[in-house]
Amino acid sequence: MPFNKKLNLILFNLRGEIIMRKKIIAGNWKMNKTPKEAVELINTLKGSIDTDNVEVVVCPSIVCLSAVVEATKGTNIGVGAQNMHFEANGAFTGETSASMLAELGVKYVVLGHSERRQYFAETDVTVNQKTIKALEAGLVPIVCVGETLEDREQNVTIELVSLQTKIALKDVSAEDAKKVVIAYEPVWAIGTGKTATSEQAEEVCKAIREVLADVYGQETADVIRIQYGGSVNGANANELFNMGNIDGGLVGGASLTEGFADIVNYK
Ligand code: 13P
Repeated sequence: MPFNKKLNLILFNLRGEIIMRKKIIAGNWKMNKTPKEAVELINTLKGSIDTDNVEVVVCPSIVCLSAVVEATKGTNIGVGAQNMHFEANGAFTGETSASMLAELGVKYVVLGHSERRQYFAETDVTVNQKTIKALEAGLVPIVCVGETLEDREQNVTIELVSLQTKIALKDVSAEDAKKVVIAYEPVWAIGTGKTATSEQAEEVCKAIREVLADVYGQETADVIRIQYGGSVNGANANELFNMGNIDGGLVGGASLTEGFADIVNYK
């Protein structure tokens, strides 16, 4: 088989062992699609996406999770939730726990998305509590960080994103941190059609990896996957995902149609 660059950066650690970061591309469907529509899209994608070289995840609404887990059986498409509660159970009307998701066959959970921070009072502290609980339940947390336009204009992007990353991973061991995916999503790029340039995205993803190296050491930082999210589409995926510190993407609008295949099958 010819060398496939999607198997990504092959690095060597200090002991000369190979470190590989498999690209991970996730579709965050947000509050879109009924269970029937969700299954229809899965059936379309099944035939058109390459799941050999990329870890593919879809994150539908909670009411679609069961149907989508069923529809993806026998495929390499993973299923993720868009949120969860940090308590194991109890009087939290409307909420869902990590173990409930895990029992359903859900493998990933998006945590701290900027829309949840903005509209549902999610904070760095609750993102940390949720990250810990998700890991305990065997879920892969996809932890979102990112700056607003105002933050960027005030030149505090790196500090802010570093802080979000550090707090999200507080009290998470190095072994557990290796399972976490960080999604760098600049708020100004979400749903706006204004994608960060590949250089802007790379600069912040690289800074996040440096923070991870400060906290956990370089070897751990080198295996943690960092996605970019914000107006990713079939035309810009190639350039973004070929940057050295960008290990795939978290895709909103462009993951809602069969065009998601163009992103997953980037070159
Ligand atoms: P868009 O791809 O629609 O900009 O959304 C990105 C996002 O928020 C993914 O979580």
